[in-house]
Amino acid sequence: MENLISLVNKIQRACTALGDHGEESALPTLWDALPAIAVVGGQSSGKSSVLESIVGKDFLPRGAGIVTRRPLVLQLHKINEGREYAEFMHLPRKRFTDFAAVRKEISDETDRETGRSKQISSVPIHLSIYSPNVVNLTLVDLPGLTKVAVEGQPESIVQDIENMVRSFIEKPNCIILAISPANQDLATSDAIKISREVDPKGERTFGVLTKIDLMDKGTDAVDMLEGRSYKLQFPWIGVVNRSQADINKSVDMIAARRREHEYFANSPEYRHLANRMGSEHLGKMLSKHLETVIKSRIPGLQSLINKTINELEGELSRLGKPIASDAGGKLYMIMEICRNFDQVFKEHLDGVRSGGEKI
Ligand code: GDP
Ligand code: NA
Ligand code: MG
Repeated sequence: MENLISLVNKIQRACTALGDHGEESALPTLWDALPAIAVVGGQSSGKSSVLESIVGKDFLPRGAGIVTRRPLVLQLHKINEGREYAEFMHLPRKRFTDFAAVRKEISDETDRETGRSKQISSVPIHLSIYSPNVVNLTLVDLPGLTKVAVEGQPESIVQDIENMVRSFIEKPNCIILAISPANQDLATSDAIKISREVDPKGERTFGVLTKIDLMDKGTDAVDMLEGRSYKLQFPWIGVVNRSQADINKSVDMIAARRREHEYFANSPEYRHLANRMGSEHLGKMLSKHLETVIKSRIPGLQSLINKTINELEGELSRLGKPIASDAGGKLYMIMEICRNFDQVFKEHLDGVRSGGEKI
């Protein structure tokens, strides 16, 4: 049976491809109803590093200042064999196997929308990565929260970023990946501050602690990792990403993952937590959680899907010969995906009813 996350991925892409479909359409509602994971945190808290560790690839633009200026919707697809590659939705027929070129395209596409003005835009960039080394997952990278505008950026950018981040994470279907650096007081964490606003009970927030290796000598993150500093429903996860020196030396991600694993397994403070620390564990846990959330939403999603199918059928019959026009072709495609979706949902539901595990 097709994996639930990859099905949701397909429908998200189809909804986006039909983005300009009209206000009263069920499609935007459907998009909002699909669970996704948004990454939030202050500038330099380690958001890009965490994303790259989950993917196991170097591919995000870096640098000082506000580098991420548009949301990046990152869909990870596990493939069983073959070479890893990436594809952008705005470049449908181009396969990237060089991840430095992916990084450059993210920057260029950001500038195309914001006109190099260093402004921000809420229009997402959609990127899919196909690899044997990833788990099925959809993650949204958002601009880092900041306290001051830098030269050339309007003062309003601080508030604009906060508003954009909030607009994503306030949706009840959004799972929040809140990134805080361990070498700063949690009470001052931008990620915790904003996620607490929209999810006061911590029911859909995953706390990630970065830079554990950079803490002052004689201090450790055990209280934070065991939830005594700030309580969330889910256990906190600590990570050790590559330092700037590692990045400059091009330490590869797989070696970095191994080193991270050894760091937790070999330090006396963290040994007892080692099996739930690190980027690899984080990726697996998020994938599992996303699947659980999707499963729990199946009945609601199903009725929305059916509504969408009806609507598209109406649209197609108005258009007449569907395949003749590009718009018709797209409608036809999304309808097929919706039907497939509906079918798989039914099977999953049957599995749930009969008590069988169908995934
Ligand atoms: P972002 O602005 O939130 O995307 O942060 P980045 O991922 O770009 O990280 C900012 C800087 O902190 C980079 O120089 C990273 O190498 C460094 N960094 C991030 N996480 C860690 C970590 O766990 N340990 C160490 N030593 N450095 C880290
Ligand atoms: Na940065
Ligand atoms: Mg970043």
